[in-house]
Amino acid sequence: MNRKKLKRRSFWINTFLLFFIGILTISTFSLMTMATKKDNASTSEANKVTVPTKIMFNTSESDIPGIKIVTETSTDASAPFVLQYPQTEYSTHNKAVFQYIERAKENYLTKTQNGKVEGDLTISYEIISHSSKKYSIALTTNRVIGEASEQQRIESFHWNLETGENFTIKDVLENDSKHLMMLSTLVRHNLYNNSTLSNEFSQDKIRLETQPTWENFDQFVVTDKSITFYFAESEEEIGLVNSIVTTIPLTTINELLAEPFQLLIEEDEVTQAPAETTKKVALTFDDGPNPKTTVQILEILNKYDAKATFFMLGNRVQAYPEIAKQVREEGHEISNHSWNHPDLTKLSTEKVQREIQDTNTIIEMVTGEKSTSFRPPYGAVNAAVRQQTNLPIVLWDVDTLDWQDRDAHQLLVNVKRDVKGGSIILMHDIHQSTADGLDAVLAYLQSEDYTFVKASDL
Ligand code: NI
Repeated sequence: MNRKKLKRRSFWINTFLLFFIGILTISTFSLMTMATKKDNASTSEANKVTVPTKIMFNTSESDIPGIKIVTETSTDASAPFVLQYPQTEYSTHNKAVFQYIERAKENYLTKTQNGKVEGDLTISYEIISHSSKKYSIALTTNRVIGEASEQQRIESFHWNLETGENFTIKDVLENDSKHLMMLSTLVRHNLYNNSTLSNEFSQDKIRLETQPTWENFDQFVVTDKSITFYFAESEEEIGLVNSIVTTIPLTTINELLAEPFQLLIEEDEVTQAPAETTKKVALTFDDGPNPKTTVQILEILNKYDAKATFFMLGNRVQAYPEIAKQVREEGHEISNHSWNHPDLTKLSTEKVQREIQDTNTIIEMVTGEKSTSFRPPYGAVNAAVRQQTNLPIVLWDVDTLDWQDRDAHQLLVNVKRDVKGGSIILMHDIHQSTADGLDAVLAYLQSEDYTFVKASDL
């Protein structure tokens, strides 16, 4: 009975073993075949990267008549890419784009060592139109090589679709290097005041990248409203980051723009001969412009046919260029009150110079007129500050203390107390109480036969 059982068991075991050996043989054989196949496959892939063969081209229409979009795709397993870029019927347009695409591709294939290092490359496009039939093309290149983090940069091209020509930043700025210098100043201030960027990049770095050379400003896109600049961290090769970006409204730089890019603004120059009397006073307004209160003050000055002097801050001129322009257009005088309102006697010579020079620059840029004088913030001035400007320094003898009282009625009380022929009256066009109290002040001064002149006419 026992034997029989054993015999029977060994029969089943034998059958199972035979079956198992069979399966093993088949699997081993098929595994070997697969391995051989895989070997062949990877050899042929390696060859493909050296001379990429699996590249597909596809062309389609864009939203803009005359611009087609080319899509170039490589399905290569270790170094794939998708490149999309616009083309027109003009070889002048196409050549530059092709050259960039070829350079980006070559550089990428070199960096991935023909597929030994895994990578990814995509280039996408954006077409930005300007009403003068001028188009900016922004190609965004995203590149990954091996473990390195993704890198992005933007390369711009500028097409005139009517003539087939390219345009550059020189064409936008009337080919005038003085305009470029002013733009550079403005861009720097935008960047210094951008807290995200100024945390990431030092002022030295920003200054270096925004030096007023045409090359530094050649990466840009322009719309009917604004212009955006891209500054490269390094120009050495493709695929590098240009994360220093800034956008400037065209109203701020209208004076610098060539005709096709200029915004239409009516300009009627008001020139008024100052009245000849012995009882003259100069009304001065500091710390503006302000979009609300400065405009209200202009209305009151206009009512009394009074001309005044506005000591403006560079950063506020930059923020409200239209208001600064309006002040100038209504025949008032614009003067320099520094960029950020610091106590200049506590700053380095270099910083003082920048506070004054940059404010001069933006005032001239926005209003088309140079600053006529300079008033240091808090009236704080010493020999070192004086040395930094040739402008006459204008202080005051009647301090209305409007910034402290913030009381419309008190304004007149304080003026009455101190005013005399030849007085320079200090007020601030950024306080509502000053705008509200000014009418009474002007009514009083007029009734006392005072005439209102600009500070430089006293
Ligand atoms: Ni001030």
